Amino acid sequence: MVSEGKLKGRPVIVVHGGAGTWQPERSRSGLAGVKRAAEVGFRVLIRGGSALDAVEEAVGVMEDDGSFNAGYGSSLTIDKRVEMEASIMDGETLQAGAAGLLKDVRNPVRLARLVMEKTDHVFVVGEGAEKIAQIFGLEKRNPISELRLGYWKRQMETLNKGKFPLPKLAELAKAHPDIFSLETVGAVALDAEGNVAAATSTGGFPLKLPGRIGDSPLIGCGTYADNSCGACSATGVGEIAIRLVLAKTVCDYMARGKTAQKAVETAIRLVNTRILNNYSSMGLIAVDMKGNIGAAHNSPNLCWAYMSTELTEPRASLTAKKITEKL
Ligand code: GLY
Repeated sequence: MVSEGKLKGRPVIVVHGGAGTWQPERSRSGLAGVKRAAEVGFRVLIRGGSALDAVEEAVGVMEDDGSFNAGYGSSLTIDKRVEMEASIMDGETLQAGAAGLLKDVRNPVRLARLVMEKTDHVFVVGEGAEKIAQIFGLEKRNPISELRLGYWKRQMETLNKGKFPLPKLAELAKAHPDIFSLETVGAVALDAEGNVAAATSTGGFPLKLPGRIGDSPLIGCGTYADNSCGACSATGVGEIAIRLVLAKTVCDYMARGKTAQKAVETAIRLVNTRILNNYSSMGLIAVDMKGNIGAAHNSPNLCWAYMSTELTEPRASLTAKKITEKL
């Protein structure tokens, strides 16, 4: 049991390191990474820190890890570059910030927070976003890792075997889930003051076209938080989360009285019902205002962890509730 000290409420944090297929060679580092992220985020909460600080710190840990498709170790675009994106949202004020098309900002989630707090905007991309990072002294880091370069080569070989012009990337990803996993990272938290927050960060879909923006930096799609219901972070095929405004949809389910778990399960059923693509891999985490947590996916795996005052250390797993049914 973690000491709650003089805290008003019982804080809780849930993090994800991505939906998809987690191969054995990276499972151990993925699980260790989400555990560490949950631990770091929870430490913020247990010291009386805000949910907003907790999700930023937790996502920052995963961006630095190298095991995940976010920050260092991001997936490469079809032309062998990295374009990262992230968002963060405060459920108390509904303030939100997001940044995209980032080449070398070490922690995109910290830039999202700066956009939220230091500008009048919600979403800034490319050179403009990198300028904000520079003005506020954010660290830079080359995000291209050996691991992702190796994946990129295998992905390009697979793509080329399918002969250019490429068959749809989704079909390739379905046929080769081992090399097209998404592994976006995210966190949701409820703090002792009763405020929720959410954050999400990603390198995006492997072999994406330059300039493609996914769900992760889009408020309501990959990230949403509102003290009137709860918070949610999504992982998986961004185009699906965008079309279903998935993170907000989960929050709407909670607003109508569903627990966090029922809300994410219903949203995955919605994906299974409405999205007819042959590649609809999605994962969702959520927390409601009572501190109930939720995690569900239709992909083979969801790498995730959570930590609360009832536990002595974070619990991590490569699966949550897998949902294959429709609505
Ligand atoms: N969910 C991450 C992406 O599609 O970019």
